[in-house]
Amino acid sequence: MQLIFEKSVVNGRRALTLPEMNIAEYKLPEYREEIDLPEVAEIDVVRHYTGLSKLAHGVDDGFYPLGSCTMKYNPKLNEAVAAFEGFTAIHPTQPKETVRGWTDALNMLSDYLCEITGMDAITLQPAAGAHGEFTGMQLIKAYHKYNKDFGRKQILVPDSAHGTNPASANMCGFEIVTVPSNSEGGVDIEALKTLVCEKTAGLMLTNPNTVGLFDRNITEICEIVHKAGGLMYYDGANLNAVMGICRPGDMGFDVVHLNLHKTFSAPHGGGGPGCGPVGCKKALCKFLPLGVYGSKLPKDTASKSIGKVKSFGGNFLVALRSAVYIVTLGADGLLDASELAVLNANYLLALLKDKYPVAYDRICMHEFVLTAENIKHETGVSALDISKALLDFGIHPPTMYFPLIVHEALMFEPTETESKETLEYAADAMLKIYDKLYTNPQELHDAPISTAIGRVDEVQAARHPVLKYNK
Ligand SMILES: Cc1ncc(COP(=O)(O)O)c(C=O)c1O
Repeated sequence: MQLIFEKSVVNGRRALTLPEMNIAEYKLPEYREEIDLPEVAEIDVVRHYTGLSKLAHGVDDGFYPLGSCTMKYNPKLNEAVAAFEGFTAIHPTQPKETVRGWTDALNMLSDYLCEITGMDAITLQPAAGAHGEFTGMQLIKAYHKYNKDFGRKQILVPDSAHGTNPASANMCGFEIVTVPSNSEGGVDIEALKTLVCEKTAGLMLTNPNTVGLFDRNITEICEIVHKAGGLMYYDGANLNAVMGICRPGDMGFDVVHLNLHKTFSAPHGGGGPGCGPVGCKKALCKFLPLGVYGSKLPKDTASKSIGKVKSFGGNFLVALRSAVYIVTLGADGLLDASELAVLNANYLLALLKDKYPVAYDRICMHEFVLTAENIKHETGVSALDISKALLDFGIHPPTMYFPLIVHEALMFEPTETESKETLEYAADAMLKIYDKLYTNPQELHDAPISTAIGRVDEVQAARHPVLKYNK
């Protein structure tokens, strides 16, 4: 497909006509260099981006069981409300009385998220989950510094954690101490006891964790870390399994981040704006970024603030979509969503596990992890080949090779918004692929064959990426 720059062949073509100017002309400083912007008509812009969108697989195209990412359907009602002019045509520095709807929405969402997580205050500023982790780690750092507990330099991270956890903690200057998993996929309690010490600043935990299992020892884990003087950080990427059922605040966590684009149906955005709110318990509220919303904030909120991590209330229109989602579903609806997410994952697992070995054979939460280790050993077909073959059925691959503790991992998260028929179609596709493992493995090595781009050379892409356009 041509780049839009390559479609720009006639100078002066425009996709946009500005309204007639009704203010005095202002002369801009002369630019030394011409900016090479594409000059194309509206129809070319529309066709270009429509064409590009057809090359990608989105949740509106088909099943998208990408584990840990909660690719649930994004209700169009959210979009309709986020498009209201009263929300899109305002500016946060307008006089307060002219943006009451904006502040009301931020207050309302903050209150709901505090209630859902069991936290005392929440900031909507972080622009993604990983940005939330960074913000949460800054809160923990500020807390220990405030208490003159300067030796707390270590963050404990289970070996099943998402890569952003150790990365975010490390960006805040913490040393990472890895906690091994036990045979059930949870935190190894005995190992944890030997790792906590006077240097422990906190533990980052995802619960349910990245193998889709709820850590049954969660209260004991919190107790061990708290007793050692550390704080508990909850990576809320998997909240979709427990929302309305239990709360991180009640489990014993002190700081929480949420991924609105996962649990609360804001679109994932393809690298665009996101929102990863961070909530905390009373003792940490004073360190929150400036500009916290909510109707029941503790008095000293942001009084010793870590500063700002983003401007104003964060990516407001993303947050607004989640506010609409929460209001639409209500408390009962959120509970239903979690229960159905767990039911759907267990149904799909039941349809697959006779053929594909499961990494931890327990009732799962909202996702599960299969292992193609033996399959690869016996047939040469890898988790990657199986994933690519799913594309030929119009299904987005599951998450592959994560978590790192499972070899040839395939992590499926169907979400609550998929029907029984869709789950059965996906299971059938996986079983058809299974049959080919032994009869025609080459077809799986060659997959996908029906997509616009076939199998790419991943080694070449990783080792010699072409990152610059050469005319
Ligand atoms: C368990 C977990 N934690 C954190 C993150 C980071 O979230 P984000 O992609 O919004 O930065 C992810 C993202 O996939 C995740 O799965």
